[in-house]
Amino acid sequence: MEFKRNIIITGGAGFIGSHVVRLFVTKYPEYRIINVDKLTYAGNLANLADIEDRENYVFVKADICDFEKMQEVMAAYNVDSIIHLAAESHVDRSIKDPFTFARTNVMGTLSLLQAAKCRWESLPEGYEGKLFYHISTDEVYGALQFDGTLFTETTKYDPHSPYSASKASSDHFVRAFHDTYGMPTIVTNCSNNYGPYQFPEKLIPLFINNIRHRRPLPVYGKGENVRDWLYVVDHARAIDVIFHKGKVAETYNIGGFNEWRNIDIVKVIIKTVDRLLGNPEGASLDLITYVTDRKGHDLRYAIDSTKLKNELGWEPSLQFEEGIEKTVRWYLDNQEWMDNVTSGNYQSYYEEMYGKR
Ligand code: NAD
Ligand code: DAU
Repeated sequence: MEFKRNIIITGGAGFIGSHVVRLFVTKYPEYRIINVDKLTYAGNLANLADIEDRENYVFVKADICDFEKMQEVMAAYNVDSIIHLAAESHVDRSIKDPFTFARTNVMGTLSLLQAAKCRWESLPEGYEGKLFYHISTDEVYGALQFDGTLFTETTKYDPHSPYSASKASSDHFVRAFHDTYGMPTIVTNCSNNYGPYQFPEKLIPLFINNIRHRRPLPVYGKGENVRDWLYVVDHARAIDVIFHKGKVAETYNIGGFNEWRNIDIVKVIIKTVDRLLGNPEGASLDLITYVTDRKGHDLRYAIDSTKLKNELGWEPSLQFEEGIEKTVRWYLDNQEWMDNVTSGNYQSYYEEMYGKR
């Protein structure tokens, strides 16, 4: 079967990637989606069980750092576009093991860029009809004070953690490939995502699971840090809009205009989980445990996504109250998924970080 487009989505077995793969595979049967994922502890094919039999879906288990393999996949599927999400994504892990972050996020992105360059420059039409779309984070902009300011697309990069430094570096490589070789690229920087299939090392799924098992909820520092939360399906919708309508060489910020102090979001999670489990209101508040702060903990992130709204018409579709309700329900209804991802190879790391269940 001839496909209209052949799109690699890297990191498609991860949290956000699985939502992007699902959206593209189901919405665009005329596109072939090639999910390239190494299946690290964070990658899980069960996230895609509902679409894995679709004719327009292919899974390739591969490391983006493997340049020859990336070249092979580019040629085998006649790839015209890449939506690049594969990364090491957890700040706490980057503080412990920065090398892995430099390897995957910097060298992996470079390997993918170079493979795309070699392939596309070898074709008669060159870069025409091609796109390298890189998914990045608001963390590259550094930290804001409690002064109402927002990150815009022109905010100077000022990364603080090894994770954000590695993402910033990868963003620079992507832009360099546009400026140097003329590769059509787009970069987007998104705020904190939440929703189904997020690995339970991140705040929201970790705390939902801990409440369910009556384990402590480790709030870093005083819980006063602020994050801007976006429902993951809205991020996937934004990626769809930008992939189709975004301007080459542009940057777009994606966010929910939805800032929360950590301690306030923890209380919303407790309230929702307790209600859905039939516990008395406030029953799990005693699980809140203030612990040593994350090293270099960024105080506040907040995204201004006005450009995306004005130029491409995207806005978040879900109110936070609705999104968090859906999310808590999903984790409570999918305990088997949770048990699977918190067992096996990754268990020892999990226990090292968070103690025995
Ligand atoms: P995740 O950790 O849930 O998933 C990452 C995926 O990448 C996994 O499936 C993993 O197996 C795969 N992967 C890791 N190393 C690989 C390698 N060397 N080769 C091939 N595959 C590899 O991450 P996520 O939270 O879904 O984030 C996806 C992307 O979005 C990342 O680039 C991240 O920086 C960015 N981002 C995340 C958020 C967020 O809130 N989670 C917000 C903004 C941007
Ligand atoms: O802003 C976008 C970023 O959001 C993404 O680029 C990252 O990939 C993603 O992991 C996320 O980074 P954060 O560090 O903000 O997310 P995390 O869920 O780890 O933490 C959210 C906040 O909660 C942060 O201020 C730290 C705090 N926290 C987190 C954990 C895991 C706690 O207080 N206790 C915890 O146990």
